[in-house]
Amino acid sequence: MRRRTWRVWQQAVPKGGTQMAKKTRLALAGLGSVSQRGILPHLAQADALERVELVACCDVVPGRATETARVYGWSESYDDYDQMIAQADVDVVLVATPIPAHYDQIMKALGHGRHVYAQKTMTTTLAEANAVIELAKTKGLMVVASPGQMLNPTLVSIRELVRGGGLGKVYWTFSTNAGGGHEQETFRTGNDVLRNVDPTWYYKAGGGPVYDMAVYSLHTLTGIFGPVRRVTAVSGIGLPVRTWKDKEIAVEMDDNTLMLLDFGDATFALAGGQNSRIAPTIGWGRLTISGTRGTVDFGGGLGGLEVVSDAVLPEAFGTRGPRVFIPSAGLPGLKHVTGAHTSIQEPHVYNDIMHMVECLETGSDPVPTAAHARHVVEIIERAYLAASTGQMQEISSFF
Ligand SMILES: NC(=O)c1ccc[n+]([C@@H]2O[C@H](COP(=O)([O-])OP(=O)(O)OC[C@H]3O[C@@H](n4cnc5c(N)ncnc54)[C@H](O)[C@@H]3O)[C@@H](O)[C@H]2O)c1
Repeated sequence: MRRRTWRVWQQAVPKGGTQMAKKTRLALAGLGSVSQRGILPHLAQADALERVELVACCDVVPGRATETARVYGWSESYDDYDQMIAQADVDVVLVATPIPAHYDQIMKALGHGRHVYAQKTMTTTLAEANAVIELAKTKGLMVVASPGQMLNPTLVSIRELVRGGGLGKVYWTFSTNAGGGHEQETFRTGNDVLRNVDPTWYYKAGGGPVYDMAVYSLHTLTGIFGPVRRVTAVSGIGLPVRTWKDKEIAVEMDDNTLMLLDFGDATFALAGGQNSRIAPTIGWGRLTISGTRGTVDFGGGLGGLEVVSDAVLPEAFGTRGPRVFIPSAGLPGLKHVTGAHTSIQEPHVYNDIMHMVECLETGSDPVPTAAHARHVVEIIERAYLAASTGQMQEISSFF
């Protein structure tokens, strides 16, 4: 039987007792938008604090870590990631810095024997993702990589329906995640050290709406249909200059990309990542699937889940076909998002983190794996290559 070092949590529970389980000691790198709006307020809730210890936080902007530690009760603060990694006695490093910084920080954390939670995307290239997986394996460490789309029970039920043949032969599917641009986040209008967070990196190499947003669609589609075989794309810069406060940002990363994915056996998908507005009827994260026996339409402007199928639907849908509309399915029903967490932003991020904590406590394997994240990273890298060369690209990785 495989044994991994994260099983130490189980061993830490005293014989005959259950109350003294070890808390997971956390470090957090990157104290910008996703941390201030989501990770920090979620982890400050009493139910989280029963299971985690807020040890060390870090940000390169002087004073941001000190102020974060003061406001949210973290014990140590650092302006330098390398110093934090060398000094802080933690079990897990949460990496929530700009995407281009992820690879280096993940590798350093693993190198110091820490488990890693990585915000999306885990890395920007397949080669980097391979190196992360290899080092984690060598060291016997866990890497959990957001977004954990397949922790969403509705998506799991859709996967069950598709794989059980409830939609017949699936012909094509569509998913998109678009948003005006991070310079428009209300959060960034603040002028204090916690909220005056410059979004410029989103428009430089390693940023862009595919690594940042289409990544959700890609995790959803591959979570349901499995690995992609081939990808092609069109991609470009629609708006060459963006503004945040009084700063002009020269856009160097494509802000408008459409990808065509081939899952094999004539099942195709369209996935997009754009820094544009999106019609209310489509909305954030819309997923539609069309097969010979039925269709699924989930999320976005629809605000729920509509299934049309002549098959018997999975029990989770609560009823039988031929046509089911479940408004509440628009709410994710994520395991750890209860009580106060339902009204704090970025609940899926918190759910992913607590899923990792639970895996460490119980010795179980995580759902959002580094191998799945690697596959998505390869799709993105190859999509950009396809767009620049005009050549359809083969995908080599599996998960
Ligand atoms: N903003 C969102 O809506 C959102 C939502 C979910 C996930 N995410 C993801 O979260 C991650 C961070 O995004 P964000 O929007 O919070 O970015 P951000 O620009 O708001 O914040 C990034 C923070 O990291 C700090 N930083 C930069 N380089 C660093 C380094 N080397 N070491 C330590 N700190 C460093 C910056 O000073 C800044 O405070 C990305 O992976 C992004 O895709 C963002």
